[in-house]
Amino acid sequence: MASTVITHLLFPLAFLVILFSTAASRQLNEKLYIVYMGDVPSPDIQDYSQTAATASHLSLLHSLHGSYEAAQESFVHSYWKSFNGFAAWLSSSHAQHLSNTDGIVSVFESKKPKPLTSRSWDFVGLPLSQQTNDLEYQSDVIVGVLDTGVWPESESFDDKGLGPIPSKWKGVCQTTPDFKSCNKKIIGASFYNKGSGSEPEAGEFISPRDSDGHGTHTASTAAGSIVKNASLFGFAQGDARGGVPGARIAIYKVCFSDCSDVDILAAFDDAIHDGVDIISVSIGYSNGGFLPPLNYFEDSIAIGAFHAMKRGILTSNAACNDGSVGTVCNYSPWSLTVAASSIDRQFKSQLNLGNQTSFEGRAINTFTMEQPWYPLVYGGDATNVSGGFSSQDSSGCGLYSLDPSIVEGKIVVCYLSSPGDLPDGGVYVSGGAGAIIMYDPMNDTAFSFMVPATVISRKQGEVVRSYINSTRSPIASIAKSVAGNDSPAPITASFSSKGPSKITPDLLKPDITAPGVDILAAWSKVAPMSIDPLDKRVVDFNIISGTSMSCPHATGAAAYVKSFHPDWSPAAIKSALMTTASALDATLDGNEAAELGYGAGQINPLKAINPGLVYDTDANSYINMLCSQGYNETSLRLLTGEFISCSSKLSKQGVWELNYPSIMVISNASEPFLAQFPRTVTNVGPAKSTYEVKIDAPFGMNVTVEPDTLTFTSSNQKMSYNVKIESQVIPDNYALLSGALTWSFGNYSVRSPILVYYDVKQ
Ligand SMILES: *[C@@H]1O[C@H](CO)[C@@H](O)[C@H](O)[C@H]1NC(C)=O
Ligand SMILES: *[C@@H]1O[C@H](CO)[C@@H](O)[C@H](O)[C@H]1NC(C)=O
Ligand SMILES: *[C@@H]1O[C@H](CO)[C@@H](O)[C@H](O)[C@H]1NC(C)=O
Ligand SMILES: *[C@@H]1O[C@H](CO)[C@@H](O)[C@H](O)[C@H]1NC(C)=O
Ligand SMILES: *[C@@H]1O[C@H](CO)[C@@H](O)[C@H](O)[C@H]1NC(C)=O
Ligand SMILES: *[C@@H]1O[C@H](CO)[C@@H](O)[C@H](O)[C@H]1NC(C)=O
Ligand SMILES: *[C@@H]1O[C@H](CO)[C@@H](O)[C@H](O)[C@H]1NC(C)=O
Ligand SMILES: *[C@@H]1O[C@H](CO)[C@@H](O)[C@H](O)[C@H]1NC(C)=O
Ligand SMILES: *[C@@H]1O[C@H](CO)[C@@H](O)[C@H](O)[C@H]1NC(C)=O
Repeated sequence: MASTVITHLLFPLAFLVILFSTAASRQLNEKLYIVYMGDVPSPDIQDYSQTAATASHLSLLHSLHGSYEAAQESFVHSYWKSFNGFAAWLSSSHAQHLSNTDGIVSVFESKKPKPLTSRSWDFVGLPLSQQTNDLEYQSDVIVGVLDTGVWPESESFDDKGLGPIPSKWKGVCQTTPDFKSCNKKIIGASFYNKGSGSEPEAGEFISPRDSDGHGTHTASTAAGSIVKNASLFGFAQGDARGGVPGARIAIYKVCFSDCSDVDILAAFDDAIHDGVDIISVSIGYSNGGFLPPLNYFEDSIAIGAFHAMKRGILTSNAACNDGSVGTVCNYSPWSLTVAASSIDRQFKSQLNLGNQTSFEGRAINTFTMEQPWYPLVYGGDATNVSGGFSSQDSSGCGLYSLDPSIVEGKIVVCYLSSPGDLPDGGVYVSGGAGAIIMYDPMNDTAFSFMVPATVISRKQGEVVRSYINSTRSPIASIAKSVAGNDSPAPITASFSSKGPSKITPDLLKPDITAPGVDILAAWSKVAPMSIDPLDKRVVDFNIISGTSMSCPHATGAAAYVKSFHPDWSPAAIKSALMTTASALDATLDGNEAAELGYGAGQINPLKAINPGLVYDTDANSYINMLCSQGYNETSLRLLTGEFISCSSKLSKQGVWELNYPSIMVISNASEPFLAQFPRTVTNVGPAKSTYEVKIDAPFGMNVTVEPDTLTFTSSNQKMSYNVKIESQVIPDNYALLSGALTWSFGNYSVRSPILVYYDVKQ
């Protein structure tokens, strides 16, 4: 794209030199590492500057490499505003050497987490109900979004009616020829591309501008302005608005062709310093549960979120899109881990066969076919043989695998093996009229395609194929989608990653769920509407799915709470969201994973501003918990910048003792257990109040709470209680037993889920 070339050429020369010199100096055996040195020396030292930080980082590299030139060549970036460390190109032996050096907490290879979307489209507006007369409160709240940038001209970022930028804002608007200014809605924007390769991909903007759509979608979901009558080709028509339409947005573009730890940490370093109130990160290490889980200290998002928490900033995170049990990501105890759930609306696109059979497929199909009927062919019978493809290849209708002389003007039946395949692209390039896609997983999510298409199950697909066999001239048609609203909801999305966390299994994750299936929000004008890059449709709003979409809903809800309670800690805000969440119905199909799927339940922002009691927690409590998990205390001290002693005897109980708004026991079936959970609540409701406990014990368990009544006489008063869970009944095999503990006073209801999870594989 022409604009990219121009941007590149006009880019400040100094920066280009750094990029090229690091690129040129990279040895084959060198990789990008983050050398993490803990807290900044002291937030109070006035003369601690970027220059001083970089000098100390270069001096470390100097002694490592033996020459200043080599140090400069390997150096990539200094972190110095909110925490201390640097990024550099290193060999593994140099990395090893540095990790054994005094003053260095950890050295880890910069990895490449991903934005967490499975694109699709559907649904109306945002389910967050909030009143426009709250806008005034919100205008001081700043939401930081780490993502793929933003399309600033979108109506969702119109700053009409917004007052002056809050005086606490200390960030920048990093302008370039293709990103000329910020406004009173998008008050800051910067980009970080030191870890994502020196050569931009075609169409990529080297600026905060979004070429992907993901960042525009998440930012507008969290805090976009109200846009009347937004829709995607008339679908999902309604008012589009963020959770806090009156709040400000700070954009941190950390994902280009990919995202990288180096850049994510740099963005956290800036965002914490800039004065944001809530950080939203719809990015994660999605490994499908197959790779070793990331330690908190190897995970740039967990590290960044820890520092943010210490400065009073909550980080809201996507839980990942790997679906199965044990695949949850972004599970640090100090962040909010958000699952995705459905709403009752589903897009259906009917498939009609010439013999009067029809199937209700799912897709967001915006096309109205010109003719009533089209000839029907199976992709496996229409192979591009001269191109060297097999029938097996063309059964998936992959790009170039089909023979146009056979499929032109026909509807093609395709097997999809993974959602990353692009059968519609293959049908499109060979002139097909439409696609019938057979795919079983993710049947709760509607995808969009660049040709008229619908998705049916493989079983239904076999019927279509036998119909093709049964007649000389098979014909079919695919109807434009209609939105049905008869589905039971909310249901945990099939793609939404489930707990338990592999690092701290006794801590229930995800924390909460929010709508993440078929969400309408603003879009980049250069991003294709469907996942296919050949798709030329330009849209202002798009409908997509993922925990990437649910995360900014929770971010918006957290910002909403923050707007009423600016002095609440990250843990208090998280507690308010969790204890007021609406529990999901575990008996509905799709909710079998229960709390491992949806945590405390679905966010309820209006209730969350008035929770009655909160479970507050501070950095030291998290540290204690980490001590109990065997973390190196020297590292912990460096992380916090404070003297932390892990010496007091701590056991597995440390996790249970964390003052968390949920309760979880993970056990195997071989013996009964006794688990105790001390908890402390802070009164943020009426000064004089008496709460009584209601226990919904998991099947076969005795749950006792001491005391069972809490009488408060003043605001912010703290009271403690103890929960004891005893099991005697031992399930035969794997079982997931849910319960809850609720403190009630008048209309206040403070609910904590209890989950006992027997994992026979343990
Ligand atoms: C709303 O948008 C739809 C589709 O873009 C359009 O047909 C309709 O006229 C609009 N309605 C209003 C009230 O603007
Ligand atoms: C058939 O395959 C060849 C080799 O990949 C490719 O060059 C050609 O474009 C394909 N034909 C079509 C119509 O896709
Ligand atoms: C989706 O697939 C599951 C499992 O195959 C099935 O139980 C469920 O009924 C399907 N849902 C829909 C809406 O087709
Ligand atoms: C359709 O006919 C083909 C070729 O005779 C055969 O391989 C295939 O199994 C048949 N499919 C169905 C669903 O009957
Ligand atoms: C259409 O064909 C399919 C496949 O042979 C068959 O299962 C179905 O019953 C037929 N529909 C009607 C209405 O005959
Ligand atoms: C913890 O880290 C310190 C400093 O790096 C090191 O000396 C010590 O051996 C480590 N302890 C453990 C148990 O790994
Ligand atoms: C599981 O059972 C084994 C064997 O009785 C026991 O050693 C282990 O501690 C149990 N694990 C848990 C988490 O209770
Ligand atoms: C629960 O408490 C009752 C009454 O104290 C007792 O009889 C029973 O054995 C206990 N059950 C479990 C599972 O501890
Ligand atoms: C409780 O709810 C009722 C009905 O919604 C309301 O009228 C009443 O004022 C509420 N009481 C308190 C103490 O908030």
